[in-house]
Amino acid sequence: FDKLTTHRLQEMKASGEKIAMLTAYDYSMARILDVSGVDVILVGDSASNVMAGNETTLPITLDHMIWHATSVVKAVKRALVVVDVPFGSYQGNSSEALRSSIRIMKESGAHAVKMEGGIEIKESVTRVLSAGIPVMGHLGLTPQSIYKFGTYTVRAKEDAEAQKLKDDAKMLEDIGCFGVVVEKIPASLAKEVAESLSIPVIGIGAGPEVDGQVLVVHDMLGITQDFKPRFLRQYADLNKIISEATTDYIKDVRSKNFPNEKESY
Ligand code: KIV
Ligand code: NA
Repeated sequence: FDKLTTHRLQEMKASGEKIAMLTAYDYSMARILDVSGVDVILVGDSASNVMAGNETTLPITLDHMIWHATSVVKAVKRALVVVDVPFGSYQGNSSEALRSSIRIMKESGAHAVKMEGGIEIKESVTRVLSAGIPVMGHLGLTPQSIYKFGTYTVRAKEDAEAQKLKDDAKMLEDIGCFGVVVEKIPASLAKEVAESLSIPVIGIGAGPEVDGQVLVVHDMLGITQDFKPRFLRQYADLNKIISEATTDYIKDVRSKNFPNEKESY
């Protein structure tokens, strides 16, 4: 098999092969996803929600992200590993953005970083790119700015915000980003952006006419509870499987059915 590179992603875009991306935060899950053939693994700052139980992505630190990224990288042989630069470690300060991204690359062995925002973080993205670190953009609903938006509803429905998103996407391509995630925006806008860029546009809640899709793996596998946005397709009900296995185990321990003779030394 061939290792997934940022160069390969450009080829996939050019030839119309769709890119499958999922999040992972730990070794065991990353290994399953990589062996299954996912193209890109995102060590998302959604770890703040699904791993640590926070309501937002804001509390997760650079050290936490590096811990998760290091665990994922150890498991991955084929996929491209992209790591979110967390809130507070790149915005408004390009030196800090560079320092944070270098730490991620050096300490975890990941292949690329992702940062949220457009023109506001242009300097930071430019500086990181200048160090030879591949950068993926993230536009639309950018969860690190949730307190600016106030809600998790669809973004860029108004003309002004849609135009800014298009300008931001073009700018990110022009300065050298290898791809961009668009989150929770109208499908028609996402299609327009994907058609106008030569770098891959990966959607989440952005309709089918983009170059690839990304989901949070815990949502996709049905581990997460009480999070069922319209864009989410649940491919398994692991919640049910895990909880049934757990109750079976408890029953067996209590009834002394586990361990049996064969399971003992
Ligand atoms: O952190 C994350 O999981 C993400 C994806 C939803 C794109 O940024
Ligand atoms: Na993220």
